[in-house]
Amino acid sequence: MPLSPDPLSVRQADHPIQPLFLQRWSSRAMNGQPVSASDLARLFEAARWAPSTYNEQEWRFLYAHRDGPHWPTFFDLLMEANQVWCRQAGVLVVVLSHKVFSRNGKPNPVHTFDAGLATQNLLLQATTMGLVSHPMAGFDRARARLALKIPDAYEVEAMIAIGHPGDPSSLPPELAALEVPSGRKPIADFAREGLFQFS
Ligand SMILES: Cc1cc2nc3c(=O)[nH]c(=O)nc-3n(C[C@H](O)[C@H](O)[C@H](O)COP(=O)(O)O)c2cc1C
Repeated sequence: MPLSPDPLSVRQADHPIQPLFLQRWSSRAMNGQPVSASDLARLFEAARWAPSTYNEQEWRFLYAHRDGPHWPTFFDLLMEANQVWCRQAGVLVVVLSHKVFSRNGKPNPVHTFDAGLATQNLLLQATTMGLVSHPMAGFDRARARLALKIPDAYEVEAMIAIGHPGDPSSLPPELAALEVPSGRKPIADFAREGLFQFS
């Protein structure tokens, strides 16, 4: 099933860009099919080629397939509002970042930034493959750290639900109503020449 509605019928860029940037959106409608290991490898391959400070590549991803042994542990980390629709995902991913440089142990001020870049690569690759990929902050970080045995030197950044597109009408009505790609602020609201002059 293709992503519905087609984001290109809803979103318009003010300047010419690759359609992929508009096509990626955070749908919640998935059909419960597993995501194959080879598809997941393609997503991590895209993440792999993200830029990072000193080529540190400090992102880490932990994942659970819906039909695998770790699914209940990952699923239980989610806030109830996210569990409602994530139960139809094929894979749940926890995004981590290493907080210190591997070569000298000093704090890395951009570990979160770099993990975000890798994550966006993953999300865009998923879009090209017709997969839903939905980042989430709504989960219990402290419990994730304990349950997944994440060392202190790693930040727990986000989770991502990945799956095959489903019928929006299978969602509870309040979530089905959200199945429309969102718009964006105009560029002038977030990019200015020179000094800070945002309101
Ligand atoms: C770091 C991050 C955390 C998010 N957390 C959640 C979440 O917990 N639950 C949810 O349904 N959506 C979550 N979202 C999705 C955002 O609401 C969504 O990206 C935003 O509304 C823009 O819409 P779009 O991704 O469809 O373009 C999150 C997105 C990001 C980047």
